[in-house]
Amino acid sequence: MASVIVIGTQWGDEGKGKIVDLLGEYAHIIVRFQGGNNAGHTICVGDEKFILHIIPSGILHQNKLCLIGNGVVIDPNVLVNGEIKGLKERGIQIDSTRLKISEKAHLIMPYHKLLDALKEQAKSPDKKIGTTGRGIGPCYEDKVGRNGIRICDLSNPDFFMEKLRDNLEEKNFLIQKKYNAEPLSPEKIYDEYMKLSETILPLMDNISAIVYKARKEEKHILFEGAQGTQLDIDHGTYPFVTSSNTVSANACIGSGIGPTDIDFVLGICKAYTTRVGAGPFPTELEDSVGHHLQEKGNEFGATTGRKRRCGWLDGVVLNDAIRLNSVNGLAITKADVLSGLNPIKLCVKYGLNNVETLCMPPIASDIGQLKCLYKDFAGWDKDISKIKNPDDLPKEVLDYIKGIEDFSGVPVCVLSLGVDREQTLIFKNPFTMSEKIHN
Ligand code: IMP
Repeated sequence: MASVIVIGTQWGDEGKGKIVDLLGEYAHIIVRFQGGNNAGHTICVGDEKFILHIIPSGILHQNKLCLIGNGVVIDPNVLVNGEIKGLKERGIQIDSTRLKISEKAHLIMPYHKLLDALKEQAKSPDKKIGTTGRGIGPCYEDKVGRNGIRICDLSNPDFFMEKLRDNLEEKNFLIQKKYNAEPLSPEKIYDEYMKLSETILPLMDNISAIVYKARKEEKHILFEGAQGTQLDIDHGTYPFVTSSNTVSANACIGSGIGPTDIDFVLGICKAYTTRVGAGPFPTELEDSVGHHLQEKGNEFGATTGRKRRCGWLDGVVLNDAIRLNSVNGLAITKADVLSGLNPIKLCVKYGLNNVETLCMPPIASDIGQLKCLYKDFAGWDKDISKIKNPDDLPKEVLDYIKGIEDFSGVPVCVLSLGVDREQTLIFKNPFTMSEKIHN
């Protein structure tokens, strides 16, 4: 039995979807615990490509139970008319034997999406966060402000309507008076959400109790994080962050279990760094190398289609993530994208006002001033995307991986060399704990 958390060590888009899909084969249960449809987890199975935003990536494996925890914020329209419908059309069965949703998860309401857009539009260019526009921030604001509407509220239509009217009174005031936009109608939202509840309520359950029982029955549980550590509301590059805790500790809060029930944290780390949206990015490259990474890595956001900003792997960011998440092992993804670059650089330190530091400063404007100090590694030209045996990896690839292990002090358990399930070398499986040493 093992409970394994998968989290992103950078600014999201590290390839968590692929790794969760891969490890999902060994797990009985896969749980999403934070974020919402701001996430976009891409999984390629044969010629088929799936992009999942809310439903855990494990849904693509038959007979796995996928859970959406209380920490997730749910846009019911996207869940029902986008994701569930889309998966069913592609032959994937979705019912309460496959998918359960926490009764305590909060609903993203139409006014959250509208306010997300209006707030962003009203900001000056240097203050824009570049949100995904999915209503994530405003929904979490209402949760913490104790005005949120939850999945369980759908089962009591009168109570739902009362809450909706109360909330809209305040939201419509803001929408009209501050942002000069059209108010929203409670009746229209009520009708839409009551219709959606017909699909959602049969899936509603107590996720904490299900996870607890599964632990008692010695089942393997996989917790699927969304976004990345530097987007964490507490520990990320504030205010250019998302509105949830993306670190591993939130797997416990966002699904309703205690910390001693976690056995392993797998940190997903792209072999270089990307970021979508605004905010500081110390190793960002706006030259031909950045262009190579963007093009060869096909770096477009899975949710918004925006071009991702690209740069070298940042060891300071990685070590921050290792500390903040108690990372036990790393999965390095997209190493194949580095083929053709020479040298390959790993940021090992920052300089700020002529002082060297190994930590990310707390103030965004300071992060913007950082000078990166790099360690160089020899590059390789060979296409490594088809390699099946670690012994066939060029020495330069192994040296780079070893360099990451030495700098971070954490072993690399998985090396991903392309989008397909088959393009993966697993050195140590966190569920079976079987090891295959790669050098
Ligand atoms: P929000 O989560 O939509 O509020 O966006 C806040 C910031 O987080 C923006 O910079 C987004 O681009 C970024 N972000 C949110 N979700 C993801 C993700 O899944 N991958 C990468 N960046 C994300």
